[in-house]
Amino acid sequence: MKAFGTEVEVWLLCSCCVRNAVALVFLYRLPWKYNSEMKEEIVMSSNKQLIDKLHEKKGLTKDEWIQLFESYTEEDRLYAAEKARAVADSVYGKDVYIRGIVEFSNVCPNNCLYCGLRAGNKNIDRYRLDEDDIMECCRDGYKYGFRTFVLQSGEDPHFTTEMICRIVKRIKEEFPDCAVTLSIGEKSYEDYKAYRDAGADRYLLRHETANEEHYKKLHSESMSWQNRIRCLRDLKSLGYQVGCGVMIGSPYQTSECLADDMIFMGEFKPEMIGLGPFLPHSDTPFRDEPKGSYETTLFMISLCRLMLPEALIPATTALGTIRGNGREQGVLAGANVIMPNLSPVQVRDKYMLYDNKICTGDSSSECRGCIENRMESIGYKVVISRGDHKKL
Ligand code: 5AD
Ligand code: SF4
Ligand code: FES
Repeated sequence: MKAFGTEVEVWLLCSCCVRNAVALVFLYRLPWKYNSEMKEEIVMSSNKQLIDKLHEKKGLTKDEWIQLFESYTEEDRLYAAEKARAVADSVYGKDVYIRGIVEFSNVCPNNCLYCGLRAGNKNIDRYRLDEDDIMECCRDGYKYGFRTFVLQSGEDPHFTTEMICRIVKRIKEEFPDCAVTLSIGEKSYEDYKAYRDAGADRYLLRHETANEEHYKKLHSESMSWQNRIRCLRDLKSLGYQVGCGVMIGSPYQTSECLADDMIFMGEFKPEMIGLGPFLPHSDTPFRDEPKGSYETTLFMISLCRLMLPEALIPATTALGTIRGNGREQGVLAGANVIMPNLSPVQVRDKYMLYDNKICTGDSSSECRGCIENRMESIGYKVVISRGDHKKL
């Protein structure tokens, strides 16, 4: 009996051990399995789920941005566009704002590797408009219903701070119901302050890339990413409506660069975002580089709209250059601004940032009519308005 009893005891003991062991293994494996499944779920969130999350939370993690850029499909892109358009409609309705760009000088001392105006390009006819020419462009523009004038140029040292301030003041005096936007590059805080005091409302300065290493590959050594970002921060602190932005598909751009751009813009909260495909210019070091993706540009417009619902996002000339109906598609993907040219026809083909730029042979009134028709064809209307950022 004793032996039997002992045997039973031993068996019972063993049974407990086995049960405990099984329980232990089960307890050990349960959280492991749970964790790994959860982790898997984060990694495996579908792109549509990420787009929904962006819509709801107004941001994504860096890994999520990278996943989106690396693996989005045409279906994902259209899904984002539909949501983005609904967001834009809820903020700006069916209105599309227009801005008249006056390209007043193509002189530039810089050597951005992508740009046709770079100092190293000797194959370009340089020009400057004088103050009266600029005023004449604005007068034309006012007649056609423009209520924002964008003064754009290379970083031409001929135009001193005093001259720029004088031009801004003249425009604001003659057209007090209009906004003035400057797009004249990197300047000191003091210069930006002087322009602002003279009446400038907005400033466009694309950051080009939020990734410092990438920035170095696109620019000459005389330019620095740090200074670019300093400029943008100064402009914000001075109360400008500030525009930053990037070229999509610029040489050396990776999905990580685009993720950095989205994170930067999510933090900086620009009032305006300029996005266009990179397009090669035959007289630059990037002449043989492939153009950027039309689809990724549209996708990026939609993602920016979902992240910053009130942003003013133009359907850019570069988008209209890469595809005949690119600007219409840009608006349908969430853009709400178009920026036709007001420059005199004689100089239009001299402001070539990239090859085959559209509208170089068309007059201001032709472009104005053209844009109106294009917007009407997709159910949108060009409005006569300064078109300020909705939060301001
Ligand atoms: N392709 C597309 N965009 C360009 N830009 C300059 N060069 C090119 C090009 N080759 C853009 C830059 C610049 C803005 C004025 O035009 O982003 O900031
Ligand atoms: Fe000059 Fe601007 Fe062209 Fe650079 S992108 S070369 S700063 S005009
Ligand atoms: Fe210039 Fe169409 S916008 S011709």
